[in-house]
Amino acid sequence: MKLFVDTADLNEIREAASLGVISGVTTNPTLLAKTGNGNVKATIQEICQIFPNAPVSMEVISDDAEGMIREGVDFTTWASNIYVKIPFGVEGMKAVSALTAKGIKTNVTLVFSPAQALLAASAGASFISTFVGRLDDIGHDGLTATAEIVELLGNYDFNSEVLAASIRHPLHVVQAAQAGCDIATIPMKVIKQLYKHPLTESGIASFKKDWEAFNTVIV
Ligand code: E4P
Repeated sequence: MKLFVDTADLNEIREAASLGVISGVTTNPTLLAKTGNGNVKATIQEICQIFPNAPVSMEVISDDAEGMIREGVDFTTWASNIYVKIPFGVEGMKAVSALTAKGIKTNVTLVFSPAQALLAASAGASFISTFVGRLDDIGHDGLTATAEIVELLGNYDFNSEVLAASIRHPLHVVQAAQAGCDIATIPMKVIKQLYKHPLTESGIASFKKDWEAFNTVIV
């Protein structure tokens, strides 16, 4: 499973790029608003430069297919590695189908059910973003829908990759991988948590202590 970073914060983007384990970026209007930087195009172009060979998702805000297509085509002039992120819906799937026909990569967002995923795959979505945490928030098991989507799409030869989004903690990442997701997009805070294990930390400390004691003996 590929690991993407879920942020529009340029400091986090640079830090994520330096890690050597991240192969893509997802943004959304909320994440872009949080940066406080009104120049969205410049922000996305900088993200695309920091991750030049990786998919970078940028979301449309139009309500109708025509507007979404117009925005999506415009985004692709910003940088060559932009994936046009489109909210799931009737108009959205019309836009995905049209953009796919033009050879433009898409990421269908706000997918919560296998039925929606089937429609997104049929429209030609490059990525299907299945939201885990937001289902947990309303008392559902967020991973169940994601696992069902992976199983359903696995029966056929769709070109869509299943992307686990709305990730809230390390267990979500592990469970997304166990379910067979192609990608998980993860907030920087959770990426850092993935590295942590108390036995690794205490093990490094004790190796260092033993080595220093041994060095004192042989000097
Ligand atoms: C990414 O593509 C999604 O927009 C993001 O993961 C949503 O996360 P949230 O549910 O924590 O807002």
